Amino acid sequence: MQPQADTSISPVRWGIISAANIGVKAVAPAVRASANGKLVAVASRDTQRAASLYSFAPEVRFYTDYEQIIQDPAIEAIYIPLPNSLHAEWTIKALEAGKHVLCEKPLAVTQQEARKIVDAARASDRLLMEAFMYRFHPQTRWVLAQIKMGLIGPVRQVRASFAFDIRAHPENIRLNAELAGGSLMDVGCYPVNLCRAVFGEAPRSVAARVYRHSALSVEVATNAVLDFGEGRFGLIDASFETPARQGAEIIGEQGIITIPVPFTPGIRETTVFIMKNGQINEQNFERVDQYQLEVEHFARCIRSAQEPAFRLNETLENMATIEAIYASAGLDWPIL
Ligand SMILES: NC(=O)c1ccc[n+]([C@@H]2O[C@H](COP(=O)([O-])OP(=O)(O)OC[C@H]3O[C@@H](n4cnc5c(N)ncnc54)[C@H](OP(=O)(O)O)[C@@H]3O)[C@@H](O)[C@H]2O)c1
Repeated sequence: MQPQADTSISPVRWGIISAANIGVKAVAPAVRASANGKLVAVASRDTQRAASLYSFAPEVRFYTDYEQIIQDPAIEAIYIPLPNSLHAEWTIKALEAGKHVLCEKPLAVTQQEARKIVDAARASDRLLMEAFMYRFHPQTRWVLAQIKMGLIGPVRQVRASFAFDIRAHPENIRLNAELAGGSLMDVGCYPVNLCRAVFGEAPRSVAARVYRHSALSVEVATNAVLDFGEGRFGLIDASFETPARQGAEIIGEQGIITIPVPFTPGIRETTVFIMKNGQINEQNFERVDQYQLEVEHFARCIRSAQEPAFRLNETLENMATIEAIYASAGLDWPIL
């Protein structure tokens, strides 16, 4: 992954489906700031609301339905930040309309649905990537590179957490089973992703528990052990009922890497701690917009016809792990 954008190529023309919060706050500004992209249009069920949210982007055109934006010949790449249950439908439609698609995580609700989307991407000859932005941050790339080079020896355990308190927002899409909410789907997918990235393969089996209130249709807490074989484990947790909290610890036979902010490091400067031979060293990372690095990478892949660095086989394996965690915990999935 190269963080630099090539300014000699014509910018990729982007459209966004929905006026979702993550689009408004992070990805649309990232596209506008990117060196190789241009934000052209947004489609929303409520264009008045969308226009007011997008007042920072006066160049943007608005469409009242999602079908129109994917048929717009002026648009090359579509970003999809819809509720999880709608990712498959609109990603496949956009691919079939000849667009490249950056779809929010998790790509699908089930492994089978993810497979259908990936098959559609391969048949369309267009690029598809699941939007795990933290994979483009220099901190993540540095940690994964150091592990590969053996800085802490063979990795035995990855512990990773991601949680926040959603209780004041009962209307949120994350608490809606029909929209495929749940703490594992929303934030737990990041620790799952990190474990897979560190070990370089999918877990062989999982054992898990989730917690679901009688009043809610989705789970609000997940804890799981991911068994990568030969004494290598991932321990992950996610919650919607604790203060905002994230962290990761990668435990090797010769050292330990601690990442206090593994998934949203772009907000401020961050530090990774390396404990080795009885000493603690620090590696510092400057503030950087990881969404911008993500969209610039995707646009560069479009222009150079290269497969994105975050690959679809990894997406498929992570979807399989999410499903296996729910199965192990005895949760019927999907809950529709
Ligand atoms: N990578 C990240 O950092 C990150 C961060 C947050 C969220 N996400 C992901 O991004 C996606 C969106 O999350 P968000 O919090 O931004 O969502 P959100 O603010 O709730 O927006 C979702 C949008 O989807 C559209 N929509 C279409 N059908 C809908 C329905 N039946 N119910 C509700 N909304 C519907 C609405 O747009 P219109 O009314 O304008 O059509 C709505 O504004 C999720 O997949 C989530 O996992 C990723």
